[in-house]
Amino acid sequence: MSLTPLLDGPDLREGAEPAARHLARLGPSLLSGPELIDALDQSDLRGRGGAGFPVGRKWRSVAGRQGPRALIANGAEGEPLSFKDRLLMQARPHLVLDGAVLAAGAVGAEQIVLYIGREHSAAADAMLHALAERPATERARIRISRAPVAYVSGEETAAVQFVNRGVALPMSVPPRPFEAGVGGRPTLVQNVESLAAAALIARRGGAWYRSSGTLLVTVTGAVARPGVVETPLGTPVAEVVERAGGHPGSVQALLLGGYFGGWVAADEAWDLPLHPERLRGTGHALGCGVVAPLPADRCGVAETARIVSYLAGQSAGQCGPCVFGLGAIAETLRRIAVGRSRPDDLARLDRWSAELPGRGACRHPDGGAGLVRSALGVFADDFAHHLARRGCAAARPLTAGVA
Ligand SMILES: Cc1cc2nc3c(=O)[nH]c(=O)nc-3n(C[C@H](O)[C@H](O)[C@H](O)COP(=O)(O)O)c2cc1C
Ligand code: SF4
Repeated sequence: MSLTPLLDGPDLREGAEPAARHLARLGPSLLSGPELIDALDQSDLRGRGGAGFPVGRKWRSVAGRQGPRALIANGAEGEPLSFKDRLLMQARPHLVLDGAVLAAGAVGAEQIVLYIGREHSAAADAMLHALAERPATERARIRISRAPVAYVSGEETAAVQFVNRGVALPMSVPPRPFEAGVGGRPTLVQNVESLAAAALIARRGGAWYRSSGTLLVTVTGAVARPGVVETPLGTPVAEVVERAGGHPGSVQALLLGGYFGGWVAADEAWDLPLHPERLRGTGHALGCGVVAPLPADRCGVAETARIVSYLAGQSAGQCGPCVFGLGAIAETLRRIAVGRSRPDDLARLDRWSAELPGRGACRHPDGGAGLVRSALGVFADDFAHHLARRGCAAARPLTAGVA
C-alpha cells in the first residue's frame, strides 16, 4: 500500500487527476454514514486547518442536529506559509470531493460549499473541472465560493458569514457553525485536507489510518527545495526538512505550525514528531502543518516583529483586545527590534501576550500572542541584544513609523 496515499497517483506536474483515473486507482468508498463516523473515531483523525479537533466528534455534533444541514469544505488557506491545501485541490480534486460528499452524507448536509481562497485560482479551476466530471445529482448540491484574500477569511465563522452575507468577518459565538451556520442551518466546517483523509479512511478503515496515516507538511524558509511533503504521522521534523533538500546553513530555530504556531529552538525541534497529539504532549502544536527553519544569521526578534505586524494588520477590526492588543504588541516588538525599546517593554510583552488569548471573538489574537510567548523564550539572547537599545541589519526595514 502506498506510503503517500494523499498525493499518490500521477506526477503532480501533470495537474489534476481525472475522475476515471482517480476511481481506478483508489476504488469506491466502502464506508459511509454512521459506519464512517465510527471509523473516523477509531482513526483519531484530527482537523488539518489549525485547531486539530477530532474529526469524528465534529461530524457527530452536526449529525445529531435536526433539520437541513450544510457543509463548508475549507480551502481558504490564508496562512502565508502554507501551500498544502491548494496543492491538494489542484492535484487530487476528486479525493477532496469524495471527502466532502461522504461528510455531507454522514452529517445529513444537503448543501456543500467549496470555500476556496480567491488567490488560489489554479486550485479553484481544478475543483471546477472535477465538479463537471461528477454525477448531476452531486453537482446540484455543490457550489464554489471564493474566499477574500485575508488571513481571517478562513476562520470558520468568517467562512459562514461570507457564504451568508458576502462578508468574511468572524462572528462572536455562540451560536457556533455546528449549531447555526449557512442559512442558519447546522454546518460542518472542515479543512479540505481533513476531508481528503476522511475519503481515504472510507476506503481503508480507521485502524489503517491510525497505523499508516499521513499528513501534508509545507516545508519552507531556509531549505533547499521548499514545497509540500507528504509524510507518515509521527515523522521527526529533521526528516521532512531533509526531504525538502535539507537546510543549507546552520539553523537557530524553526517555526512550527505557521504564523499561528510557535518558535522552537533547533536543538529541540529536530526530533519532534509531526503528530497532532504527540506534538501537543511536548508543548508544541502542529497547526496547519508548516515547518519553517530560520537561519542562524537571521534575527528572531525582527522576524517575530514582522509576523506580528502582519497579523495585527490582518485583524478584522471588530474586537478591542484584538485591534489594540495585537497592535500594541506589534508596535512594542518593532521598537525593540530597531533598538528603540523603552523601559518595561519586555515586561509589557510578557504580560500582554499572556492576557490576550481568549479575549477576541475569534482566535486570531491567540495566534499572535502564542507566537510572541514562544519568541520570548527561544530568542532570549536576541531580545537581550535589542533591549540594550541596539538594532540589527534584519530589523532595518521595520524602522519606518517607529517612534
Ligand atoms: C484567524 C483564523 C484563520 C483560519 N484560517 C483557516 C484556513 O485558511 N483554512 C482552514 O482550513 N482553517 C482555518 N482556520 C481554522 C477554522 O476556523 C476551522 O477550525 C477549520 O476550518 C476546521 O477544519 P478542521 O477541523 O478540518 O481543521 C482559521 C482559524 C483562525 C482563528
Ligand atoms: S478577534 Fe480580531 S480577527 Fe477575530 S473577530 Fe475580533 S477583531 Fe476580528
